[in-house]
Amino acid sequence: MIRPTLPEDTPRLVALTEATRMFRPLELETLREVLDDYHAVNHESRHRCVTLELDDQPIGFCYWAPAAMTDRGWYLYWIVVDPDYQGRGFGRKLLREAEDAIVVEGGRMLLVETSGTEAYAATREFYRRCGYAEAARVPDYYANGDDQIIFSLRFPAPLMEQPYG
Ligand SMILES: CC(C)(COP(=O)(O)OP(=O)(O)OC[C@H]1O[C@@H](n2cnc3c(N)ncnc32)[C@H](O)[C@@H]1OP(=O)(O)O)[C@@H](O)C(=O)NCCC(=O)NCCS
Repeated sequence: MIRPTLPEDTPRLVALTEATRMFRPLELETLREVLDDYHAVNHESRHRCVTLELDDQPIGFCYWAPAAMTDRGWYLYWIVVDPDYQGRGFGRKLLREAEDAIVVEGGRMLLVETSGTEAYAATREFYRRCGYAEAARVPDYYANGDDQIIFSLRFPAPLMEQPYG
């Protein structure tokens, strides 16, 4: 079941993110702040966060928000599945939830940033398998030898925007 993320989910979501061993302590602290800010104010600015539950236990989450100063662009900021449950289609389910919600809001494009290092090869494959294309690469963005890769997904234009003929 996928439901809106609640403030009481935070400790579990940070713990399962830590369990992936993909994030540094500073990034885990940032996640805690992002979730606190989301519940405090950012949910009012069309930020969205959902929790995936199995047997009443959170096993993953996904966070997305409008991309500032763009025409209906969106950014996926976080998507994490508990390592004990990865590879069973849950990540794809969470991503589709975000995409469906963005389409309902009239979104045009969804971007997601990730690292070009070997440690993130599986994450990049996940986005490719889910239909995302590599749109840009910034060499040495995160650190020397650690490129930023931006994947994108474009949504079909609503019928009223499509040209005649
Ligand atoms: C990335 C992540 C969310 C994917 O979730 P998941 O539940 O494992 O992924 P799914 O089972 O839904 O897989 C969806 C597709 O991606 C592919 N995929 C997933 N993990 C893969 C891997 N390690 N290697 C190759 N392909 C992979 C699957 O094969 C599947 O494709 P298919 O349906 O064509 O077979 C999860 O692995 C994760 O939390 N990783 C650590 C955190 C992270 O990197 N988050 C993204 C940056 S914030």
